[in-house]
Amino acid sequence: PLSSYVALLLGYALGSIPFGLLLTRWAGTQDLRSIGSGNIGATNVLRTGRKGLAAATLLGDALKGTVAVLLAGWLIGENGPLPAALGAFLGHLFPVWLGFKGGKGVATFLGVTLALVWQAALVFAAAWLTVAFVTRYSSLAALVASVLTVLAAFVLASPQTCLLLTILTALLWVMHRANIRRLVDGTEGRIGKKG
Ligand code: G3P
Repeated sequence: PLSSYVALLLGYALGSIPFGLLLTRWAGTQDLRSIGSGNIGATNVLRTGRKGLAAATLLGDALKGTVAVLLAGWLIGENGPLPAALGAFLGHLFPVWLGFKGGKGVATFLGVTLALVWQAALVFAAAWLTVAFVTRYSSLAALVASVLTVLAAFVLASPQTCLLLTILTALLWVMHRANIRRLVDGTEGRIGKKG
């Protein structure tokens, strides 16, 4: 229905706000695109050495997804949340404002999951923290956590929500293809390390 497209657009509008770029520009740090992985996400903001900015980026990029889903549910009803989640995720990955060159979707994945099926978001957070703590690879943590979130959703959520989270996970893995190559080669950067 038409309302689903409205939800998709609403999600896209919120999801395409690049908090990492905005916050680092306001703070006057190095250009995110020219350091570390060149990504606009919290992991790369951390490579500027600014932990507070990285935390704020994580929060902003996650909450824009949460807000999109909740707002769409409130405004549009039951047809709102899933298209809004898809829109927010696509907005973060492909923001029109940045020539469609956005982020890899980890924080926004967490944010939309929190609003759709919060127990699965806890699974994501626990898995991410565990893998990140043990390996110091942010990308590997996200790759593992996203798959475990889908598995959790199969137990906890509706088939439609499972399908959506499966699509988002597939996109998240595609966006991490350079990270996957570096992980295989042993050249992936560790959390907090520059370069
Ligand atoms: O979310 C991005 C993270 O998984 C990897 O970030 O900057 O190391 O490519 P980055």
